[in-house]
Amino acid sequence: MNPLHVVILAAGQGSRMKSALPKVLHPVAGKPMLHHVVDTAKQLGAEKIHTVIGHGADQVRASLHDDSVNWVLQTEQLGTGHAVAQALPDLPDNARVLILYGDVPLTRKDTLEAMVSDLDDRNLALLTVDMDNPHGYGRIVRNDQGQVQAIVEQKDATAEQQDINEVNTGILAVSASHLKSWLPTLSNSNAQGEYYLTDIIAMAVDNGLSVTVSQPLNPFEVQGVNNRLQLAELERWYQRQQAERLMTEGATLADPARIDVRGELTIGNDLWIDVNAVFEGKVSLGSNVVIGPNCVIKDATIADGAEIKANSVIEGAVVGANAQIGPFARLRPGTELAANTKVGNFVETKKAVVGEGSKINHLSYVGDASLGRNVNVGAGTITCNYDGVNKHKTVLGDGVFVGSNTSLVAPVSVADQATIGAGSTITRDISEGELAVARGKQRNISGWERPKKA
Ligand code: UD1
Ligand code: CA
Repeated sequence: MNPLHVVILAAGQGSRMKSALPKVLHPVAGKPMLHHVVDTAKQLGAEKIHTVIGHGADQVRASLHDDSVNWVLQTEQLGTGHAVAQALPDLPDNARVLILYGDVPLTRKDTLEAMVSDLDDRNLALLTVDMDNPHGYGRIVRNDQGQVQAIVEQKDATAEQQDINEVNTGILAVSASHLKSWLPTLSNSNAQGEYYLTDIIAMAVDNGLSVTVSQPLNPFEVQGVNNRLQLAELERWYQRQQAERLMTEGATLADPARIDVRGELTIGNDLWIDVNAVFEGKVSLGSNVVIGPNCVIKDATIADGAEIKANSVIEGAVVGANAQIGPFARLRPGTELAANTKVGNFVETKKAVVGEGSKINHLSYVGDASLGRNVNVGAGTITCNYDGVNKHKTVLGDGVFVGSNTSLVAPVSVADQATIGAGSTITRDISEGELAVARGKQRNISGWERPKKA
């Protein structure tokens, strides 16, 4: 099969976004629209992805460093036909070419695969959609036999043509050799004074090619984004699909409309996910995991049976089986919690490796630390890991008991089974089994009289 080359049009201004950010960089599900299109092109096996940029070119280019993307500059936006023509020198003659749009982010791979899979020199594949209100779109003009003859733009359409409900999505595929002979002959003598890509349909028909038409399963697949309302519509459609997938795969969702997946979420069976969960980056949830309301979980692995209680924020962490996290816990990058651990309310961890069965239940900061098994960290314990210049480590052995309101001034090491009295400021290492108490001595003064008002 001839190589597939994808041309993505992304040079337009997108003025209706009212934004300093180029339109194609506005995110859907946490990822710039253009990157969705590039990823889809890659899934199709494209040999090269030619992205035509103009407005905000530097910003768009800087957003993506990828060897399979070739940036093509269109300095003046003279129309979609002119835009594709800019990529012609970079297209091999034998290539199959698929035209996509940087502001149409959610076309399914299967929809496009069907278009390019049986493309050869004798046909042009066109993706169309039927619309109740086709105003503004190019209309698909067919003859009496139902064969596509041409596309007519809204502003050039006769009253009769304006009644046509089948419209052009803009997405089409044809071989590079045809584009190379047709595009240089385009004229801009039309209502908008633009070089229309759509004029090549009539050229294809004149050249005896057949126009193969297909339609997407869902119109959202070909929905372009011109303003933030349409952006929100696409976002909600995308999230609804994610929710349906998760339910199909074994998660019960308290409300399928109140979960957001911005990245890759993989799950086991029998999960319960309460409202307002946000998943970002790469997250994996095991079976029987429970996610409470209002949790934000990013780049994390959460093992079977773990429970993340309400309002917890987890990033770059590994949570072991049957661990209990939160409510109001914050696990920062480098946190690795073994099975059956507990991290309770208002506890922050960072680069903390915690052994099986250990507990940090209340109001603590544990950073740059390694904890053995069955350690109990009392309420209000702080690892003082930063001396103002460098970070230092705290090491707690198996079975260590840390009394409440303890400061562990790192670097410091506490051996197995040691005990620390509440309120201690620990600055020296503690040996196995020892009790360390490091706090002001209590004096009780009898006969003390309180001051009286003068
Ligand atoms: C185009 C189609 C129309 C179709 C509609 C679907 C043409 C002539 N018309 O119309 O049949 O129904 O899309 O949305 O193709 N672009 C460039 N460089 C340019 C011009 C456009 O990169 O010089 C990019 C724009 O950024 C945009 C896309 O191409 O993403 C479509 O261009 P636009 O001018 O919006 O075309 P429409 O008038 O919507
Ligand atoms: Ca448009």
